[in-house]
Amino acid sequence: MNGALLLTPTLSPQAGRGSKHSPRAASARRERDPRPREADGSRPFVVAIDGPAASGKGTLARRLADRFGFAHLDTGALYRATAFLVLDPGGDPADPATAEAAARRIDRQLLADPRLRGEAVAAAASTVAAIPAVRRALLELQRNFAAHPPAPAKGAVLDGRDIGSVVCPAADVKLFITASAAERARRRAEELRQEGAAAIFEDVLQDMKERDARDTERRAAPLIAAPDAVVIDTTTLDADAVFERAYGFIARALKEKEWKQ
Ligand code: CDP
Repeated sequence: MNGALLLTPTLSPQAGRGSKHSPRAASARRERDPRPREADGSRPFVVAIDGPAASGKGTLARRLADRFGFAHLDTGALYRATAFLVLDPGGDPADPATAEAAARRIDRQLLADPRLRGEAVAAAASTVAAIPAVRRALLELQRNFAAHPPAPAKGAVLDGRDIGSVVCPAADVKLFITASAAERARRRAEELRQEGAAAIFEDVLQDMKERDARDTERRAAPLIAAPDAVVIDTTTLDADAVFERAYGFIARALKEKEWKQ
């Protein structure tokens, strides 16, 4: 797989002599690298995590950010916040002008609002997310976060649907976290029950399939695994096993980057 090639470092200095791994080649690569740099010349380490609803990418992104001391951006919250700002005054999430105006009004505080977590907001989020003007309005914000994660973080983890493909195509590590629709619906129903909401598995599964279809079939930045992403199917893996696997990829890529600099 491409992702494995990208992420498998050659750590032996011997192996690197006179090859594309040589210090001179590394410095030439750095000069060509268009990604933004901090004042000291370093570039934040970016982890892109994509995947469908309830695949476990959010939990994974938070744990990874915590472990590596990176900043985390749940980009789904941006689309949920946009949807919320449309729905709250009774607006139509399918109306491009209303949705774009809402996307431009999001503030940091709203992103942590528990009202964003409901299923009605999730469904409306996937409707506003299909509107190109909404995606454009949110793109710069996301790229800015990746390029300049809040201090003291030296890296950023972004999770969403199009991080590896559109928002951060030059990310250092790209993960695509997926699972069967039935398993994802089981997890989401369980989550809803724990929050005290009534959840019928068949309804949750139906909603999830509709949202998956909207996310994968839209023309603007559809949900897709970037060709160089490492795909992790979590259908039969628990959160710890997924974390260990992802941790391994990132630790190796970080080592490679340190060695190159
Ligand atoms: O938590 P869950 O996976 O259910 O959803 P989310 O990540 O909060 O995203 C809500 C919706 O926002 C998704 O169904 C997508 O339609 C949209 N989204 C997107 O289009 N692009 C992103 N980078 C993140 C979310």
